[in-house]
Amino acid sequence: MSTYPPPPAATHVASSCREHRVTARSLAARKRRGEKIAMLTAYDCAFARIFDAAGIDLLLVGDSLGNVVQGHDTTLPVTLDEVIYHTRLVARACRRALVVGDMPFGSYQVSSEDAVRSAIRLVKEGGAQAVKLEGGVVAAEAIARIARADIPVMGHVGLTPQSIHRMGGFRVQGRTEAERVRVLADAQAVEEAGAFAVVLEGMPADLATDVTRKLSIPTIGIGAGPGCDGQVLVMHDLLGLSEWTPSFVRRYADLGAQAAKAARAFGEDVAGGKFPAEEHCYKAR
Ligand code: KIV
Repeated sequence: MSTYPPPPAATHVASSCREHRVTARSLAARKRRGEKIAMLTAYDCAFARIFDAAGIDLLLVGDSLGNVVQGHDTTLPVTLDEVIYHTRLVARACRRALVVGDMPFGSYQVSSEDAVRSAIRLVKEGGAQAVKLEGGVVAAEAIARIARADIPVMGHVGLTPQSIHRMGGFRVQGRTEAERVRVLADAQAVEEAGAFAVVLEGMPADLATDVTRKLSIPTIGIGAGPGCDGQVLVMHDLLGLSEWTPSFVRRYADLGAQAAKAARAFGEDVAGGKFPAEEHCYKAR
């Protein structure tokens, strides 16, 4: 039977597991050993705890929260304060997974000083152990500056959602020869700037495989085929909580349908006076 007030946050993983915490360093070794890496997005404590206990290696507090949590059409309105808030919720739940705080639009583009300041806030106030930012050659200086502050940085190239207005929509990148050259140059610039890993988003599978072979840091793909060192999905897509999912997604559950069924059943029980029942009532002493 559940209790009220609820018990304190579960210490569901033995403290010895902390020794096996995923780190930016350990991910490099995973690539060398040819072991695949799994990353999911998370935005709150409840799901972060589930994913962490399930052995997901990295939890990304993505600026995709603008879409899946806040209901915007793009990620552009998301603020640094909002990402920090959600990162704090996720970091609190994680015992093993590496927590990556996403740097939202406007938090690193103006200057590399701004970028370091934003990254420091994600670590200090949010509890992130690494940060991610979008862009290749143009983001190299910011990546280098953040890495020099000893904050592990993940790059993100290919389809970069914060560049929606330049790209003219969420368009797959790297379909022409010129774009292929640009995506590879971006990925190499990210590695040279000192990133520990890079997300490859929305590109032909053979290009992502080529980039993965040419880089020594792990690549984490999304809509980039199986040749990457790891894969990432937005949790709402994975679990069937999105209204629409892109074609590269495999839905592993249909929680949306289950939630709707549960809510309908609850509404009917309340209307019919069937809930609460005897066993849900407190008794006088
Ligand atoms: O914001 C996000 O969730 C992301 C992933 C899709 C990689 O950047």
